[in-house]
Amino acid sequence: MKTLVLKINEKSPEKDKIDRAAKIINNSGLVVFPTETIYGLGASAFNVEAVKKIFKAKGRPNDNPLIVHIADKDEVYLLASKIPEVAWKLMDKFWPGPLSIVLKKKEIVSDEVTAGLKTVAIRMPQNKIALELIRRAGPIAAPSANISTKPSGTSVKHVIQDFNGKVDCIISSNDSEIGLESTVISLATNPPLLLRPGKITLEQLREFIPNIRVHEAVFGRSFKEKPASPGMKYKHYAPKAEVIIVEGAKDKIKPRIRELIQKYKIGNEKFYVVVIENPKKLARDLFKIFRICDGMGYKHIIVPAVDEKGIGLAVMNRLRKAASKTIIV
Ligand code: TXA
Ligand code: MG
Repeated sequence: MKTLVLKINEKSPEKDKIDRAAKIINNSGLVVFPTETIYGLGASAFNVEAVKKIFKAKGRPNDNPLIVHIADKDEVYLLASKIPEVAWKLMDKFWPGPLSIVLKKKEIVSDEVTAGLKTVAIRMPQNKIALELIRRAGPIAAPSANISTKPSGTSVKHVIQDFNGKVDCIISSNDSEIGLESTVISLATNPPLLLRPGKITLEQLREFIPNIRVHEAVFGRSFKEKPASPGMKYKHYAPKAEVIIVEGAKDKIKPRIRELIQKYKIGNEKFYVVVIENPKKLARDLFKIFRICDGMGYKHIIVPAVDEKGIGLAVMNRLRKAASKTIIV
């Protein structure tokens, strides 16, 4: 398949180009498009055949449901039933933005989108290209634009590596601003659950949902309870290099990393040490670092742990999923 690479201006998306991409979606095609979190691999949410193509292109297990992206809050009425009051409050505060809300689904949402679940995850992204595309094409089902198990695509270079020749169109735009996938919460459970941490933090959510619980998988622990979000059980974000987290007493982390550096230097093994300026920057760059290290043939990526608060919870969640080893000091 020949993939059309369509460069679109993020600040003022060219209308003719948006129309072209929307037409592809409406003709059952797949379009990779930017969002503020990461790039998404989109198809018309109401077109079962097109949705099936997403799973094929990604190599995604078909028991892992997709997020439906909308451009107007009213579209929630179309997709979901039993919408609690707090859902509207969250939408008013955080939409458009990096929050996906799981609600009871309506009939119109197919089993292909929700992987047979009776619930649907909905998000209204903030990126202008994404919003314009959805406005033109209707609701778009989209997982992260990466081959299944690889780090999510946060730059057009990386999505082209994964999907050139496998999708109809790739919209070329800037690197993703946030760099990690959206926060996912379920309001279809009682009490509500944080299923995946992201830029919208647990602390922010607690202001609206004081009784929100954090699914234990968020901390990377093994399951005692059934995965509430099927995506949780898969190994994710894994670069080819071995990711090593060094965690524990602040004054002991650096010396331990120095020891590792010595070891790899002596063994002549290529390694990369992630320097953390602040958790927000690390969030933005993490998946990019993974992919660049793979491209350079690094064998080890050493990452000092960050505090699991604010966006740090999301960073550590992705790191734990990627890591082969955690060294506690
Ligand atoms: O930032 C994002 O959320 C990006 C962009 C493209 O919007 N999308 C994304 O999609 O990360 P994906 O498919 O890679 O991750 C969706 C997550 C998965 O962990 C999935 O299991 C969960 O959301 N999910 C989707 N529908 C669900 C549902 N009905 N119930 C529980 N979890 C659900
Ligand atoms: Mg994903």
